[in-house]
Amino acid sequence: MAAPLPQAGEGGATAPGEGDDSSRFSDRLLAWFDLHGRHDLPWQHPREPYRVWLSEVMLQQTQVTTVIPYFERFLARFPTVQALATAPIDDVLQLWAGLGYYARARNLHRCAQVVVELHQGQWPRDIDQMIALPGIGRSTAAAILAQAFGDRHAILDGNVKRLMSRHAAVAGWPGLPAVQQKLWNYAERLLPDARLADYTQACMDLGNQICVSRRPLCAVCPVSADCSARLQDRVAELPASKPKRERPQRSAWLLLIENDARELLLERRPPSGIWGGLWCPPVVPADQDWRDELATRYGLRAELLEQLAPVEHGFTHYDLSLQPLRLRASAAGVAQASETAWTTMADPSTLPGLPAPVRKILDAAYFAPKKAQQNLWPEPSTA
Ligand code: ADE
Repeated sequence: MAAPLPQAGEGGATAPGEGDDSSRFSDRLLAWFDLHGRHDLPWQHPREPYRVWLSEVMLQQTQVTTVIPYFERFLARFPTVQALATAPIDDVLQLWAGLGYYARARNLHRCAQVVVELHQGQWPRDIDQMIALPGIGRSTAAAILAQAFGDRHAILDGNVKRLMSRHAAVAGWPGLPAVQQKLWNYAERLLPDARLADYTQACMDLGNQICVSRRPLCAVCPVSADCSARLQDRVAELPASKPKRERPQRSAWLLLIENDARELLLERRPPSGIWGGLWCPPVVPADQDWRDELATRYGLRAELLEQLAPVEHGFTHYDLSLQPLRLRASAAGVAQASETAWTTMADPSTLPGLPAPVRKILDAAYFAPKKAQQNLWPEPSTA
């Protein structure tokens, strides 16, 4: 009789019983690993803690194929944890150059020193002591202990999160602590009692080769028979992606200030901030009184001629709604603003560099053919 698989955690998905395919998850995974897994990675021969630790740190944000030559150079130059601990940091950084995320190299060096000084050069077998070392999180600590010593710990790196999310059909983004807790619970309950080093590598290999993020190869997956996501036809939607933050919405007045000479006031925007260095009609946040702003920043008073259609523009971090106002300057004072210029609007090709959405507004307002859009400039008075 097939035993039911464990639950992912309170309120979490329950993996179904294994039906006809009666062997345990770990047995099927290990049988697959024996045939298709990676067995010739340099840190597997021998699977010794210093080598496993070095590889796991290098693999934290980097692909296996990139890591291999770095791993081999590191081992040749620093064959033991003592050699690494006593090396100058600059030598370590130099050998790390090209792997990126240099905090990893600094932590690696500090970790070697702590192992030598606090643990007499012996790697701790206790997972909490391992996690206390620089640069080692829970999954890395588990991966080292399982691979180097065969200790019974679950890992949960990116590949395994995906595998567990699908096999248990755990809803929710795995970055959320509650979701992550369910995944840890599930991963722990699937652990076999033996061959922990192989099982750890097998989980990573399955996630890397079969249970890939897009178009996973379920047809050849050794654990598809009881994969809840597959049974519920939810493979494509699991694991859930990071929820998108609501984009902040901002709005501003765009002041199209005309003078009697049919010129428009443009201002060069400060070098930092939106549209840095470009020319633009004055922009005033919508919650400010544009008349006050005109007076204090530009030394101007103006009457409102017309409110034009608002224009929406998306920036990387927020959306801006620009409300253009056509204004006629009625009195000029002394401008306090940065660089400003009254600019003739006779010829669009002579305008300075303008932000694209502003250019669109000006084109529509002043340069569009009269039939399609009203040309806003008044005919010069003949009186
Ligand atoms: N990523 C982290 N550890 C790994 C390993 N041992 N093999 C392949 N990819 C990994």
